Amino acid sequence: MVSTATAPAKIILLGEHFCVHGSPALSMAVNLHAKVKVKDWNQKGLYILSKNFEVEGIYRDGEYFDLKGGLTGKKILNPVRLAVEEVLKYSKHSIEGLKVEVDSKIPVGVGFGSSAAISVSTIMAVAQHLGLNLSRKEICRLAYASERYVHFNPSGVDQTTSTYGGIILYKLGSPIQSLKLQKQPIFVVGNTGIRRITGKFVKKVDKLKRERKKLVESMLETAEKIVLEAVKALKNGDWDKLGSLMDENQKILSNIGVSHPKLDLLINAAKNAGALGAKLTGGGGGGCMIALVKPKEWLKVAQAIRNVGGEVYKVKTDWVGVKTISD
Ligand code: MEV
Repeated sequence: MVSTATAPAKIILLGEHFCVHGSPALSMAVNLHAKVKVKDWNQKGLYILSKNFEVEGIYRDGEYFDLKGGLTGKKILNPVRLAVEEVLKYSKHSIEGLKVEVDSKIPVGVGFGSSAAISVSTIMAVAQHLGLNLSRKEICRLAYASERYVHFNPSGVDQTTSTYGGIILYKLGSPIQSLKLQKQPIFVVGNTGIRRITGKFVKKVDKLKRERKKLVESMLETAEKIVLEAVKALKNGDWDKLGSLMDENQKILSNIGVSHPKLDLLINAAKNAGALGAKLTGGGGGGCMIALVKPKEWLKVAQAIRNVGGEVYKVKTDWVGVKTISD
């Protein structure tokens, strides 16, 4: 029997980085997906492979046997192994041999939450394989070990968005709020093509908070206000207001040192072409930016981003989150 699950990527609309320190964030699951297949393996150990990442290896008796990808491969596969182990530990199951195949269409290292989508789909596929019916809350919690491996001190927003789908108001320690909207905001996503490690920038902000506590605390308050106002703007379909809040958010992200000249280039191009607001999304330091646009302006803004070297994605909200599928 093969058990298959998929989970969506995400973009953070507002509040990234500050949400690691207790402010809220608004995030949206988008229609790029990771897919994970799990089946029994007729040898001992955990055999993980990914054709699109070109990595393959076996975990057996505490050792790693590389089949493809070397050390980089191991780094890519370790969070998948952790996700499998978390489910086994939690459900007190043990396995003789298991094969896990990862197939992800989500660009890596650019702010789409690819690692979170892979972890939550792994957890759901393994759970289905073992006959477990995990709640979304349990899936999110079990994905934490992998996210921590990848991102240093994650807030949990990535795996929560990928698990629940939709548009989410996320605040550490508070219940998750899924927003229901009358009108859908339209975004252009622009990729600088610069891959970076989110954890490096999470660490940078952490250091800044320790060195400039008062300054960062006042920024946290501002970030919280921006996000809460953005929730109202989203609910009212007030795109002008939402756009100006995104611009304000970008300013403080820039002030904490997580923007990048190429992000600024794409953001300015989008704004000059008529975007209502634009900002980086996710960890920053490269990766992707988002621009809020009126439907008629989509092409113009997309073209302006392309003209300065960005790759453009047309994203839609994924309202479902993680799910099992019959393959
Ligand atoms: C990464 O998508 C979002 C960050 O806020 C990190 C996190 O919340 O875990 C930068």
